[in-house]
Amino acid sequence: MERRKFLQIPIAAVPAFLASRVFGQATLSPLPLKVKFPVVVSTWDSGITANNAAWPLLEKKGTALDAVEAAGRASEEEPSCCVGLRAWPDRDGRVTLDASIMDGDGGCGSVSFLERIKHPVSVARKVMETTPHVLLSGEGAQMFAVANGFPLEDGKLSPDAEKEWKKWLEKSQYKPVINIENRNVSELKNPPANAGGSDIAPPYRFDDGSFNHDTMATAALDSSGKLAGMVTTSGMAFKMRGRVGDSPIIGAGMFVDNEAGAAVSSGVGEEVIRICGTHTVVEQMRAGRSPEQACREAVRRIVKRDAAKAKQMQVGFLALSIKGEIGAFAIQKGFTYAVTNSEWPKGKVFEAKSYF
Ligand code: GLY
Repeated sequence: MERRKFLQIPIAAVPAFLASRVFGQATLSPLPLKVKFPVVVSTWDSGITANNAAWPLLEKKGTALDAVEAAGRASEEEPSCCVGLRAWPDRDGRVTLDASIMDGDGGCGSVSFLERIKHPVSVARKVMETTPHVLLSGEGAQMFAVANGFPLEDGKLSPDAEKEWKKWLEKSQYKPVINIENRNVSELKNPPANAGGSDIAPPYRFDDGSFNHDTMATAALDSSGKLAGMVTTSGMAFKMRGRVGDSPIIGAGMFVDNEAGAAVSSGVGEEVIRICGTHTVVEQMRAGRSPEQACREAVRRIVKRDAAKAKQMQVGFLALSIKGEIGAFAIQKGFTYAVTNSEWPKGKVFEAKSYF
């Protein structure tokens, strides 16, 4: 697992640190970041893995939709990542997955509360392309997946997930872990030498085995100038059985429109649903705001509801405009995203600015 430390820069000082300033392996998000397309962007440092799967397709003039699906599958398979069947379970010890996919012409599909299927993002695409519906859930989604050739996995927890779930059961507090994406470095027994405050780049595996985020999301702009997006997640750790987050809800966890842009989110899904987060971001871009300004406005709407509550949680938005501009904004420090295009074929990680 890579560990990165970001120099802390007051937001007021940001204009002085434009695109070329690199701190270690991550760069503070510049304003605005306009890149050549095709381009793919994914949430978190592990977005590099997702982008690495998407880029070969985009580079060969493949479609944004194929690229984001490939990114989602790579995230769902990546052992060091924190989505997919190896992720933490709900409070009853079952891993339940949510995913969505969308193109820029209103085509979309999603699955929620899906168990024992390795690639929910591909099931979501099947829903989009072969059914008259948008969202299939639970047993019906699983039946649909199996009928379409997706293998039914054994449903056993990964050894790490089982250990953590059993530890959680000792207290068995019914208290959703709302802060999973903003764990503080002070909780670490062996923090990275250069860590301070909470400025530790996710994904990071804490001493207690937890990951500090649970969602991977990708947006791509292909060589024909079309957009697509996807989100895949195991949702909140030890969630109430049946809980569904923002990721499979079109306009909450992800929204794409070829007239304006694409937006994805990661973080406490309930807060994103309450403000129709990514739809808000895309509509702000349509109205002329830059991707970063648009993401910032969505974060502001979350914070204004309850600032004290917002201080205790993380939500990050990542947006890609139809013109190839990229921007992000989060409630807390530490929300990173990876950008891959011809300029950065191996990917480059940026840190989003934050409200707090
Ligand atoms: N953002 C993912 C979730 O809340 O489930």
